[in-house]
Amino acid sequence: METSPLKVALLGGGVVGTEVARRLLGRAADFERRVGAPLELTAVAVRDAQRERPGIPAALLTDDVDQAMAGADIVIELMGGIDEPRRAILAALDSGASVVTANKALLAAHYGELMAAADSAAVRLEHEAAVAGAIPIIRPVGDSLAGDEITRVMGIVNGTTNYILDQMDREGWDFDRALTTAQELGFAEADPTADVGGHDAAAKAAILAALAFHTPVSIDDVHVEGIASVTADMIETARAQGFAIKLLAICEKLVSEGRAGVSARVYPALLPREHVLAQVSGAFNAVFVEAEAAGSLMFYGQGAGGAPTASAVLGDVVSVARRKVLGGRGQYEHASTATLPVLPISAITTRYQITLDVFDRPGVLNAVTEVFAAHGVSIELVQQTQLPASEAAERHAKLVVATHSGTDEALAQTVADIAALSVVNDLTSVLRIEGL
Ligand code: NDP
Ligand code: HSE
Repeated sequence: METSPLKVALLGGGVVGTEVARRLLGRAADFERRVGAPLELTAVAVRDAQRERPGIPAALLTDDVDQAMAGADIVIELMGGIDEPRRAILAALDSGASVVTANKALLAAHYGELMAAADSAAVRLEHEAAVAGAIPIIRPVGDSLAGDEITRVMGIVNGTTNYILDQMDREGWDFDRALTTAQELGFAEADPTADVGGHDAAAKAAILAALAFHTPVSIDDVHVEGIASVTADMIETARAQGFAIKLLAICEKLVSEGRAGVSARVYPALLPREHVLAQVSGAFNAVFVEAEAAGSLMFYGQGAGGAPTASAVLGDVVSVARRKVLGGRGQYEHASTATLPVLPISAITTRYQITLDVFDRPGVLNAVTEVFAAHGVSIELVQQTQLPASEAAERHAKLVVATHSGTDEALAQTVADIAALSVVNDLTSVLRIEGL
């Protein structure tokens, strides 16, 4: 039986959009066999329709988003940003089109609204590419594990920052060179402060936490610390102690003061170098999911870049296209079925490593360790090394203190009190330790 073509509108012809268009056009026969109907790319909306795009016929280019979407069965949103894609996606859903997007920033801010719009229009809004590039993680967390109880999701979900930290660690590159190269390779967001500041990872953490725990979590609920403060010296100190620094996203179910809730957070953390996540190099991502019945699962692959992201986008396109052909939207859970509170960072249990520049005098170690004791924080390791000093200046020492587990509240208060000690010249770094 011959089935009429499905019209596909692509919004965005940049790093990811170009790869998606190239494959849709170049592998049309494969897509037709997999979907059961031809997929016809009818338009590609860009800001500058006069600029040539490799592999995209000029006749498909337009700078009019609404014109591009007119009559489309499927809209692929790859523009980035918030306001315009939100408007376009709501309009597309309202017109009866199914939508595929990679836009984590938009989803993390307007997830409930967009999913409700898809539900009321009885169409699909898919977003596998929004978290961890090529890695299938949205469908496993939101669908495959829907019969289990997920307790924790932890991983590296930003390729740009992993690339930067990895190049600094393994190749000795400086931060700026690593960031510029990540941008050239197409990993970074249009505004790379979203990557460096941890906000891109936080958007992904919000999406994962909402799906894993069936509860509303927005980007504003995620505790975020980026990697801008990570220096070559911190990476060197970490290495000397058998750690690597990685930007982690952690989502977990917690009970704090008798109250069940969820924690979603992003921060650079120390991982033992033998930990699997410490071995994740370049722009690769890896995510551990722990569930009551399944135990521990690991997902690993390319987390950024045009082609890997296009793979996830096109998987969603095939999925929504099949639904269009077969009838029935096949929606999995989108609305939240729980209302767990999101707990503050102070409620989590973790370990700190604190690096101090202290005056090298009698009683200094005692003054420092007394503060830990006063907050009930147990010390696991103290390491002192002499810092170079001129003849005239008072001698300084570098003190590295690693703690046992404690609440983040007690650990943060300890750090604040230590920083105020007169024997402490500088609080060089504070990093959480994970993965032990
Ligand atoms: P780019 O900046 O490379 O491309 C964006 C495209 O959208 C450009 O073609 C641009 O046009 C077009 N565009 C932007 N605003 C408008 C508008 N108002 N009207 C019409 N066209 C517009 O971004 P990426 O391809 O890297 O990313 C796209 C999306 O995918 C983002 O949401 C990003 O977060 C997400 N993503 C990106 C990944 C990556 O590795 N790059 C990985 C996973 C997700 P023009 O070319 O004329 O400027
Ligand atoms: N800028 C993002 C990253 C793209 O580096 O991970 C993939 O979402």
